Amino acid sequence: MLSADQISWRSLHGMNSANQRRKWDRDDLPRGVEKVAAVREMFDAIAPRYNFVNRLMTFGLDRKWRKITVNSLRLPTGSRVLDLASGTGDLCIDLENNGYVPLSIDLSLGMLRADRSGAPRSQADIQRLPFPNASVDGIVCGFALRNLEDLRIFFAEIARVTRLKGRIALLDVSIPTNRFVRFGNSIYFGKVVPLIGGIFSDRAAYKYLPRSVAYLPKPILIVEMLEQSGFADVEHEQLSGGLTQLFSATRI
Ligand SMILES: C[S@@+](CC[C@H](N)C(=O)[O-])C[C@H]1O[C@@H](n2cnc3c(N)ncnc32)[C@H](O)[C@@H]1O
Repeated sequence: MLSADQISWRSLHGMNSANQRRKWDRDDLPRGVEKVAAVREMFDAIAPRYNFVNRLMTFGLDRKWRKITVNSLRLPTGSRVLDLASGTGDLCIDLENNGYVPLSIDLSLGMLRADRSGAPRSQADIQRLPFPNASVDGIVCGFALRNLEDLRIFFAEIARVTRLKGRIALLDVSIPTNRFVRFGNSIYFGKVVPLIGGIFSDRAAYKYLPRSVAYLPKPILIVEMLEQSGFADVEHEQLSGGLTQLFSATRI
């Protein structure tokens, strides 16, 4: 397992070739290996301004959502918790503030490089975790479920590495159930967010990210998948009127 600082930066520099640069700038949503490449390169591209744009477009609510996510773990102090698809490591900061021992894992070198949490970092695909069975006490994952190729594979993998009675907390965007909130949300994320992204970062990426919510199965199906993967006490909670959603569960 390599740390972010040990990894060669050739792949990042290679990304700048005109042919490869904007795999995510398209009207349909990529699938399979195309999706993996598009997601990795897109996050490499937006990493430098990711935190700033995030705060701006969520009016700082993202901080509150992450705190709720970490609080839902309810594990003993000193528990080892993986932050999967950690990005710039914001969840790791909350994990540390709650007395946990975090380890940050992400596919994108750009995001790992921008991680200022101070937690140990490693580059890996979270659908193939480089950890032994039952080796961690808990797992958090923020805003990444819709980026994965296959949620069933991911849930089987997190069930494999989480010890019995360990806890998981998965946070992601959501489609609000209230139709007025849903309308406002679709205007904001469909029009305003790509504009903000275009000014401060990459317009195509901030157009793709809100659309990618379409990859997510309905909450009831996610709950079912988690139960079938070896989790109990599965809870689904809508946050901020359904702008985001949290799944938490216990490994059995
Ligand atoms: C929207 S960001 C969220 C980052 C962070 N969790 C947060 O709360 O801000 C999604 C992250 O998922 C990572 N990612 C996507 N697919 C991945 C995979 N298969 N394995 C590891 N990381 C992945 C991306 O590189 C990116 O950093």
